[in-house]
Amino acid sequence: MSDLVYARKNPQMTHTLLRRRSVSAKLLGEPGPTAEEVKTILSVAMRTPDHGKLFPWWFVVFEGEKRAQFGEALSAAWARREPQSTPEKLEDERKRLLRVPLTIAVVSSPRESTIPVWEQELSAGAVCQNILLAANTLGYGASWLTQWYSYDENIRAVMGVRDHEKIAGFIYIGTPLTPPEERERPDPAKLTNTDFVNARNRGDSYAKAGVGYVTKK
Ligand SMILES: Cc1cc2nc3c(=O)[nH]c(=O)nc-3n(C[C@H](O)[C@H](O)[C@H](O)COP(=O)(O)O)c2cc1C
Repeated sequence: MSDLVYARKNPQMTHTLLRRRSVSAKLLGEPGPTAEEVKTILSVAMRTPDHGKLFPWWFVVFEGEKRAQFGEALSAAWARREPQSTPEKLEDERKRLLRVPLTIAVVSSPRESTIPVWEQELSAGAVCQNILLAANTLGYGASWLTQWYSYDENIRAVMGVRDHEKIAGFIYIGTPLTPPEERERPDPAKLTNTDFVNARNRGDSYAKAGVGYVTKK
């Protein structure tokens, strides 16, 4: 019989999801996931919804000395962006990934397909969320970050990211050094409509004064 989970009550999981919180990379330390746990996290990533079975993503796992090697690339890329940068800042970049035991980069890699690129990119975002949740269920804290280097041409080139691909994020994973603080959450009722006519009005509930819309498609 199949052991697939698709409709079983799991109050523990609901409890977990209602209290999920990211843990800042600055507050993550050793130990990190074991090799077996890394496999589990990546296997959970493979459980992500993906229209058309395109698997439009790939991953880079940064562990051990790869973290320092990537730090060299980060430092060099930063120096190219900011030639006036201080030695301290360059050293911080060198150490960036050393702060946490494990980081997984998720790259969105849309395929030539009838499935819209937008949907393939959404799937990459969902992969990131699945990785966060997998890490949490194994007892680790995690954070999904893009920062400057996800968009940096030199870093993209070092990683072999092609022009049509996008880095969806770097997921930092480790053991929380201190519990995170709660963060404001929106009231779902203020963002949800039960009438579809002019439904977007409610979508503005949290619009901030003076902040306009993104108009570029
Ligand atoms: C695509 C994406 C990129 C993000 N990049 C950053 C980042 O570069 N720096 C940052 O401080 N937070 C970033 N965040 C936000 C954090 O991952 C996190 O969601 C936030 O700190 C709130 O914590 P929460 O997940 O518990 O709500 C990003 C989130 C997403 C979805």
